[in-house]
This record gives sequence, C-alpha cells and structure tokens, in this order.
Amino acid sequence: MCGIVGYIGKQEAYPIIVKGLKRLEYRGYDSAGVALMNGTLNVYKKKGKVADLEHYTDGANLSGKMGIGHTRWATHGEPNDVNAHPHRSGNGRLTIIHNGIIENYAPIKAALQKEGHVFVSDTDTEVLVHLIEEIQSKDDLALEEAVRVALSKVVGAYAIVVMDAQEPNKMVAARKASPLVVGIGDGEYFLASDATPIVEHTKQVVYLNDEEIAVISLDKGLKIRTISNEEISSPTIHELELKIEQLEKGGYDYFMLKEIYEQSGTIADCMRGRLNAEEGWIKLGGIDEYKNRITKAERILIVACGTSWHSGLIGEYLIEDLARIPVEVEYASEFRYRNPVINENDIVIAISQSGETADTLAALEMAKSRGALIYGIVNVVGSSIARITHAGSYIHAGPEIGVASTKAFTGQVALLTMMALAIAKEKGTISESYFQQLLNEFEQIPAKVNEVLKCDPQVKYISKEIKDSPNALYLGRGYSFPVALEGALKLKEISYIHAEGYPAAEMKHGPIALIDENMPVVVIATNKSAYEKIVSNVQEVKARKGIVIAVVTEGDKVISDIADYTIEIPDTEEPLTPLLSVIPLQLLSYHIAVMRECNVDQPRNLAKSVTVE
Ligand code: M6R
Repeated sequence: MCGIVGYIGKQEAYPIIVKGLKRLEYRGYDSAGVALMNGTLNVYKKKGKVADLEHYTDGANLSGKMGIGHTRWATHGEPNDVNAHPHRSGNGRLTIIHNGIIENYAPIKAALQKEGHVFVSDTDTEVLVHLIEEIQSKDDLALEEAVRVALSKVVGAYAIVVMDAQEPNKMVAARKASPLVVGIGDGEYFLASDATPIVEHTKQVVYLNDEEIAVISLDKGLKIRTISNEEISSPTIHELELKIEQLEKGGYDYFMLKEIYEQSGTIADCMRGRLNAEEGWIKLGGIDEYKNRITKAERILIVACGTSWHSGLIGEYLIEDLARIPVEVEYASEFRYRNPVINENDIVIAISQSGETADTLAALEMAKSRGALIYGIVNVVGSSIARITHAGSYIHAGPEIGVASTKAFTGQVALLTMMALAIAKEKGTISESYFQQLLNEFEQIPAKVNEVLKCDPQVKYISKEIKDSPNALYLGRGYSFPVALEGALKLKEISYIHAEGYPAAEMKHGPIALIDENMPVVVIATNKSAYEKIVSNVQEVKARKGIVIAVVTEGDKVISDIADYTIEIPDTEEPLTPLLSVIPLQLLSYHIAVMRECNVDQPRNLAKSVTVE
C-alpha cells in the first residue's frame, strides 16, 4: 500500500524523489519521508502528504545524489512523524523504506530487545532495520549480505530499499509479494513501487521478482541475486509504454473526473484488435492457447476485491447467460481462508486493476497450487498478478490514479463481455444472429458512452439535492444489480455517505424499513427483461415517500413519470447496459464528494493498491 522511491546517479536526488512520491501518493498518504546520502545520512519525515514533507524540509540540507523516499498507508502504528518512514537502525548507520507487512515482527523484536536494541516507533519496519544492523555488526557483513540473511528470517510481504552510511555509493532493494521496479537510466538508476515515477527519466525497466535482491551502485551497475544467493545473470529489461500525459490531470480538477471522461476511449482501447463486427469475430489472444480447456470447463471461479469483485459479478451474469458455464464469484480475501474445493478442471479468473492486491494474489497462488488454470484480467502491465497467471488479458485502460476505480471497472466489464461472447461463439450457446447483434451493439458502446456523459450537468443538479443525506440505497435487478453495488461503493468511498446496494426485489425483505421521505433511492432501471417488476419496485419506494433517482433507457415514459429524477442512457442490448448505466452513478458520487468538500482522489483511510492482507 505504501509508495517507495529510490535514486542513485549524478543528479540531486531530492527533487526526483519528491516528484516520484507525488506520483505514488495514490498508494497511501498518511505520512511521507526521505533519506539523503551526502557523506552522512539525513532523514526527514512528516505526518501528512508529500506537500507537508516539502513544507517541513524547506530550508533543510537536501543535497545528495543518492536517496530514498516513502509515502505511507499505516498498518502497524498510527500515522505520525515517528512511525513515518524511512526508519533508522539503532547505530544510525542504516536507513530503510518498506512497503508490506513483517508478520513475525513481534518475536524478532523481543529477541532484538534482549540484545539491547531500543525501538522508537510502533512499526514492523523498524524491526527489520534493527535486524539487518544486528546481523551486519555481528559478522561484519556487506550490506547486501546482511539484508539477504535478515530477509531469510522474515515472514510476510515486503518491498524494501536500504542505504548504509558506511557504503555511501550503494543501494540494496528487495521484494516479496510487494512490487518493485528498477529504472535503468544513463549512469543513473531509479527504484519505485511502480513505473509512474520512473517513466519521465527512462523507459528501460526491470521488474524485480519475488525473493530477489537488487544491489545498485554506480561503478558495478545493477546486480540481482535471490534470497537463496543465486545470481540472476541477465535480468529481463522491459520497455515502458506509459506516457507522461497519462499521469497528469489534463485540465480536470480531479483524476477521477478525467478517468470517468476517458471511458469512451479506454473501452475502445480494450476492444481494439479483439472484436470486429463487420467481419463477425471476437478474438482474445489470452484465451486462445487454453481455448479447449476453457470452453470445456464445468465451472469458472472469479476472485477479486472491491470494484473488481463487482465487475466479476457482471462476468458471472454474462458467462452464465451467454456461454452457459456455471460461475462462482468470490471475495479473494474469504476464498483462501475457507478451504474451497478447487481442482485441475477449474478455471480461476482473477480480476484486478492494480494486479497487486494481496488478497487476490494469495487466492490465485492457492488455486494455482491446486492445479486450476489461472487467468488474469488486469490493468497494470507487468504487475504481480499478470506475471503469475497462466494466461490473461490486459484491459488497456492506462494508469488509473483516482482511488475510486472507474475506467478500470468498465474495462474489466468490456473484457468479460468479450470473453463470454468468445466462449459462447466457440460453444455455440447463442445463435449466430444474436452473436452478430451483440457485436454490432458492442462496437457502438464507445460512442454511446460519450452520449451518456452529456448527462453530467443534470447529474450535478441532482447531486445538489441529495448531497446532505446521511444514507442512500441503490437498487437494480439482473445485470443492473452489480451496477447498484458499484454505485453504492463509489458513493461510500469518496463522499463518506453510508450507501447500500441491493437487488431491487430483495428490498422488501428488510431495507424497505429504511425508506422514508429522507432516503434517496437510486434505481438502475434499464432492464428490458423484468421491466414491469422494477416498475413495481419503484412504486414500492414511492409509496413510502423515498426520493427516487432512476437511471432509465431513453424514451422511458413509465418510470420517468413515477421517479423524482430520471437520467436517460441510450438503448443497447441488455448484457451491455452496465457499461453505460454505471457512468451516471460514477458522476453522482463525484459531484456529491466535491460538494461535500471531500478529497475525491485521495479519500480518507484508503489506498489505491491494497498490497497487505
Ligand atoms: O487493484 P484491484 O482492482 O485489485 O483493487 C481492488 C479494490 O481494492 C478496489 O477495486 C477498491 O475497491 C477501489 N477503491 C474501488 O473504487
């Protein structure tokens, strides 16, 4: 969850590190800190955002051509100055930044305390730097060797970078279950949790693998060994495709709004080269190699968290509806701890924007160890999930920086729709004419997304009417039910209004008791099937004086007459409606959050990439 940056080269490290931390702030923003090597080690850290750190370091000695920086999402120890990274060893010689959790920190700490180590913070990370110090000083080891031995005693997840004041031209970094990328420049090296701080300096990167240790110095370059001390003689160098403009707000007030508006383009990018309505084909490179196994599957399991779990639910509806394969959608965090039945006939699809979500990664590893075929639907290229799957497809949404996921959701749904259609075609579970009809409509979706976005001023107006409500209900049936869940999550996470998503018909089994004249009820009523039923559900809400905001298909007269507010979306085939109907809900949460003066892109307590369990 935390963001880490390192630099060694001929430039001043501080500005590079601070700029990099700002790019990684989506990963956590409880505190920030830097350590700079300039003969001695200078460490500055502060509770709050990177901007607070900049303010704090104003006028300080910030010179140094090697340094590390960290932006924190607190796990062990409250967000304050002392718990902020970097942490120092007791002798002041070493300093470390860390993303992840050292699970066995308590017994290690107790043992170190017996040896006389004194701890100043409540963090697990400080234990690690003391452990490295202890090992280093006992056996007079080089920094990389002390790090290697220390990591062999540690249980948990980590991406770390360590500097030693007595080896002032060397940085040592390592990873296990937390991402770390090395950027290779011209006589300089960069380290970061993802490529976003690196791309403006170099396009050449090496993604460290689990249990690898990188030793970087200007005279010897980049050397990689494993924790079991094997040399990785020629690490693979990747060329980044990321563009700087993708990392800027581009005139929008918030990344979230920019990302909502990008969806016509990102869905088109997701479809590019994979679908051609005129020629009547869909081709997902990722499933080709395993086509036989996938089409013959007796069931498919989908594991994901949060918004990705919601797109997984839509995947369930799509695959069962079109391809007639039973699907189970699981919260990744629950899946691995409930001893699920998985075998080599199963297909397990992991959905993840970041490709780094610890729960999803762990669920996949378990399913893989039991012989299932693992398929990834991921946004971030080169991420951990993308690299451990047998096969997969990128959604090509580009960097999603707002903590609230928007364009990744529609990218995932677009990908799952193509997957369901490809399997359905292969299995012959839908007619040729319906397949063609869906392809024709699918190709229209990017243009229809632009149509939907025209509702923005109207959604802003509606937002004003309901922004002070303490609660909201979101209702939908069929394909619109997961959209209701997603709408409720968007509202909760960025505006801090309590919201619940429910299947519309389930409302009368409990939540209806909440409805009175103060309760906004957002109904996604774009269904063609069961339309009359959803009309009845809207009537039930109105009969109890709830405020109905309905998302309907253009031209709808019936619900428009009953609802307090209606937002129209263009007509499309029912399996494709989530790609359109979610957009007004994203806009609604955005405007309400802005009106409530919330930090839309960096909501409290959250981080974009949840790399701890
Ligand atoms: O990167 P992932 O898709 O694996 O992330 C999963 C969730 O943490 C994520 O979707 C989260 O729920 C978002 N904040 C939702 O907007």
